[in-house]
Amino acid sequence: MRNIFLGLSAMLLWSCTNDSESDLIGDTPEDITYNETIKPIITENCIECHSQPPQNAAPMPLLTYDQVKDAVLHRGLIDRISSFDPAFLMPYGRSRLPQSQINLITEWRNANFPE
Ligand code: HEC
Repeated sequence: MRNIFLGLSAMLLWSCTNDSESDLIGDTPEDITYNETIKPIITENCIECHSQPPQNAAPMPLLTYDQVKDAVLHRGLIDRISSFDPAFLMPYGRSRLPQSQINLITEWRNANFPE
């Protein structure tokens, strides 16, 4: 029993240490790419409507690098996911994405859209 407890605390300690380390280092903008970082967020939260053809009255697909980049540049994608107004927020009719994911998309834009 005591050994199990020690083992558990060691694991907890290790994961905390590990967390704070990655918090300090963070994802630098160089690590963020469309394929690795952005596409999974869009796939999970957006393409149910922003598919080809778009569903549920969505105006455009968000399936490719060019489509997502274009939506950031010309369709206010970052304003839409950052909004606190439920009538304006994307994903439409859902809760706001975690701030960490919104930050990743903003950093991707700031890094000039690495593919
Ligand atoms: C349940 C369906 C649905 C989901 C999920 C959804 N959208 Fe939308 N989206 C819409 C509809 C409908 C519109 C058009 C009405 C409007 O602009 O509010 C729209 C409009 C937009 C626009 C504005 C387009 C323009 O030209 O004005 C952007 C940008 C956008 N969505 C991005 C996203 C992103 C990014 C996600 C995922 C985080 C997402 N949407 C998830 C339905 C959806």
